[in-house]
Amino acid sequence: MAKNVFLLILLSFFLLPFSSLALTQDFCVANLLLSQTPAGYQCKPAARVTANDFYLTGAIRPTTIQPFNISFVPAYGSYLPGINGLQLAGVRIFLGVNGVVPLHSIPRANEIMFVVRGTLNVGFITSTSNVVYTKTLSQGDIFLFPQGLLRFFYNAGDTTAEVFGVFNNQNPGLQITDYALFGNILPAEVVSKVTYLSVADVKGLKRFFGPRTFGA
Ligand SMILES: *[C@@H]1O[C@H](CO)[C@@H](O)[C@H](O)[C@H]1NC(C)=O
Repeated sequence: MAKNVFLLILLSFFLLPFSSLALTQDFCVANLLLSQTPAGYQCKPAARVTANDFYLTGAIRPTTIQPFNISFVPAYGSYLPGINGLQLAGVRIFLGVNGVVPLHSIPRANEIMFVVRGTLNVGFITSTSNVVYTKTLSQGDIFLFPQGLLRFFYNAGDTTAEVFGVFNNQNPGLQITDYALFGNILPAEVVSKVTYLSVADVKGLKRFFGPRTFGA
C-alpha cells in the first residue's frame, strides 16, 4: 500500500513538467525517442536541446491532400519539438486554385488564422442554432475559429492561397466530416440509415473518400 502511494507520488512528479497547466520550467522540448503520453511528450535532456528544436525551415515539403488540391506543413509534434508543453501549435496551409479545406472541426483548440497570400472564403457554423458566419479574406487578414465548431475554407482567387493558423493546444486534432462519414468501416447500409442518404450515394462517397486518418 505505502509502496503504491509512493509510486503514485513519484508518477505525479514525473507528469508535472508536461501537465495541462503552464510549464514549471522554461521549456520541455519533446523527447521524440519516447512515445507521446496524453499530456504530450517527456522532456529531452537540456544538454541535447539545440536552436533547431525551436525552428522549422520554410523549405520543408508540404504534405498533400489530393482530392482537395491543398497541402500543409504542421508546426507542432515532431516538426517543431520545442512546442511541446507550450499549449500552442501552428500550421501552414497552401490552397491551390480551387483548393478546399472541406467541412471539418478542430476538436481541441481555438484557431487564429492569418492570410499570408491569396484570397479565400472562410466560415464556421454554430453548434446551438446552426448560424453561419462567413467572410472573404485576403492577404494580411485575420480570422478566428472557435474551438470544436464545424468550419471550412476554400480558395476564392485564381492564384495559390497560403494561410498560417495558430492553435491553443499542442495537439489540436482534425476531423474532416466527409472522412468521418464515408471513410469509416461502417457498412454503407448503416451509414445510409444514420445519414438519410441513399445507399447508392453512400457507396459512391465511400469509393471517393476511402479510409483516411489524420494524426500529428
Ligand atoms: C490545383 O492547384 C494548382 C496550383 O494553384 C493549379 O495549378 C491546378 O490547376 C489546381 N487543380 C485544379 C483541379 O483546380
